[in-house]
Amino acid sequence: MTEKAILSRPNMKVYQNNISFLSKKFEKILAFLQEIKYNIAVLRCYTIWVKVKGISMKELSRVALGVSASATLAIDSTAKQMKADGYDVVGFGTGEPDFPTPENICKAAVNAIYEGKTKYTPAAGIVELRRAIAQRIQADDGEVYTPDQIVVASGAKHNVFVSLMCLVNPGDEVVIAAPYWLTYSEAVEMAGGVPVLVKAPESQDFKITPEQLEAAITEKSKVFMINNPSNPTGMLYNRQELEALMAVCTKYDLYVISDEIYHGLVYDNAEFVSIPSLSEEIKNRTILIDGVSKSYAMTGWRIGYTASNPEIARVMSNYLSHSTGAPSTISQWAAVEALTGPQEGIAAMKDVFEQRRNYIVERMNAIEGVSCRKPQGAFYVMMNIDKLLGKTLGGRVINNGDDFAMAFLEHGLVALVPCSAFGAPNYVRWTYAASMENIKEGLDRLEKFLKA
Ligand SMILES: Cc1ncc(COP(=O)(O)O)c(C=O)c1O
Repeated sequence: MTEKAILSRPNMKVYQNNISFLSKKFEKILAFLQEIKYNIAVLRCYTIWVKVKGISMKELSRVALGVSASATLAIDSTAKQMKADGYDVVGFGTGEPDFPTPENICKAAVNAIYEGKTKYTPAAGIVELRRAIAQRIQADDGEVYTPDQIVVASGAKHNVFVSLMCLVNPGDEVVIAAPYWLTYSEAVEMAGGVPVLVKAPESQDFKITPEQLEAAITEKSKVFMINNPSNPTGMLYNRQELEALMAVCTKYDLYVISDEIYHGLVYDNAEFVSIPSLSEEIKNRTILIDGVSKSYAMTGWRIGYTASNPEIARVMSNYLSHSTGAPSTISQWAAVEALTGPQEGIAAMKDVFEQRRNYIVERMNAIEGVSCRKPQGAFYVMMNIDKLLGKTLGGRVINNGDDFAMAFLEHGLVALVPCSAFGAPNYVRWTYAASMENIKEGLDRLEKFLKA
């Protein structure tokens, strides 16, 4: 904040004569404190004013009021707050690679700035990026798309939202394979749809069967949403399983949203099968979602994309043109470099994730009271806490994953994500997109916490 801006605050006038004597550091702290004080003061005055005047305001949007805060971000911010308060918390909350964005990608962004690539772009993204995406999809999965079938948005999360906004009419049902990424059900509701969760138990490796999918279908069903490999389970549907699920979607004329953002993170040399590659018919009814966040350690750059039939792409592009417009031009040029530049760094990151996965799974299964399946992709492990239910840990009776996550954060100083938000209440999610040192420390603390 500049000195001028600080001085323009009404409650800062008192410092006007003294401010030139303040050291730069003190000035910053003061500005920060004043900012908080100012905001709190404004809020207090506003509340009092509303009360005194007896003002009653109209209800906010019901759609927006129905949206709950992201559980992952909530636990992450609690953990960050505890850290800021001096607690030595180890965080396994948000799923973002702990690697820096590769240098060639950062340089491409800097070059874009200096080359003046800083203006608006078409709503669906620059053609260079859409071409690069089409080429990458073809190289990785063999599917052929033209640039006009690609739509770039501000992160894959945004693509999920826009896809639903463009497919769903009020009351349409969207069938979601669960456990699922928590944004899906919220985004379906924001789009006016009704989420229908089909839950896969651990005994099925957390994968739903075609029979389960078929049983969930009604005349209102419109879309089937799947994430492969999955956040939070890390499980990978194989070719046969996908073919069987897609046969149901074709039979009932469902659109498919296939979120394949973790497709670059598949372990044990397992085959990754992209849904649109199964047949031309399936490709035509599928919106493929992907992005650069996970595979290229670019979570903050906010670039995601879809590949779909041209009609859906056109509708999504129109929708974007009146909502966010295109994502940052600079990020788009960085993403061009990510997708067309050297790919060796990606393979190296994947190897590291695989080593961490092996370590975390082996150790977790050796700890009394908890267990996990070995995930085949992404960078998450679902820890089963069934055996801890009804026990008291850290002064709290454990009735579900939420209780466990809170007790472990407060008394073990480890931040995990409770899986109730993912449709699996007796699990908590670890991410191994964390350093090996932190993973070891987290598991040491788990052992200690469970023994206490
Ligand atoms: C399954 C899944 N899809 C999409 C995303 C969002 O990715 P982005 O950061 O590109 O919005 C995430 C992020 O956690 C995810 O887990």
